[in-house]
Amino acid sequence: MTVTYDLLLHYLNRQAKGNSERIITELDIKNRQTIVDIGAGGGHFSYQFAKVNLGNEVVAIDVDQRHLDFIERQSVKQNLKNIRTLLVNTEDNSLPLGDNSVDLFFMRNMFHDLTTPQQYFANLKRKLNDSGRIAIVEFLPNLKYVEGRTGHCTEERTIQEIMTSAGYSLKASSVALKPKESFTIYGV
Ligand SMILES: C[S@@+](CC[C@H](N)C(=O)[O-])C[C@H]1O[C@@H](n2cnc3c(N)ncnc32)[C@H](O)[C@@H]1O
Repeated sequence: MTVTYDLLLHYLNRQAKGNSERIITELDIKNRQTIVDIGAGGGHFSYQFAKVNLGNEVVAIDVDQRHLDFIERQSVKQNLKNIRTLLVNTEDNSLPLGDNSVDLFFMRNMFHDLTTPQQYFANLKRKLNDSGRIAIVEFLPNLKYVEGRTGHCTEERTIQEIMTSAGYSLKASSVALKPKESFTIYGV
């Protein structure tokens, strides 16, 4: 059973790999950063954040314990000691992370899963430090791509409006992943 489920997570990781180098380059991550990968799935981005600087602390968050168990096994295989996992309840805003402690919240292909995104991100604000950022990668409603046809997507304008109403300002809107995905970065 685990083996079958692992195949799904390996598949998710192969899908995530496509543009990940460009995402990591544009994020320009410094050393000794605390990075939280929300909705980490198979953990592809958690591993990249951990590797880009071994001084980083990466927290992989998910609502599914099977995903976190997989990430823990893969982290051991890849000898990555700077990843820890955290199980949360859907829409749980009370993440056990210190106030002003996070440099980067990263969310790829998960924004559409949030039922109250404005409230979710408003509640994350106090966890960010002064120069902290939130990066959101999300499929666009583009009929050429399966996610864009099946509702696993959000208009970039909608994300920007929600983030503004949650109290953030737009720092960057990248064209690197278009027309498939939007990639926006916010600060307080
Ligand atoms: C489509 S997968 C994306 C995984 C990964 N970010 C990627 O890009 O490959 C969405 C992930 O978000 C998780 N998820 C859904 N709702 C969540 C929530 N409220 N908090 C944390 N994780 C959530 C799911 O369990 C799943 O692992």
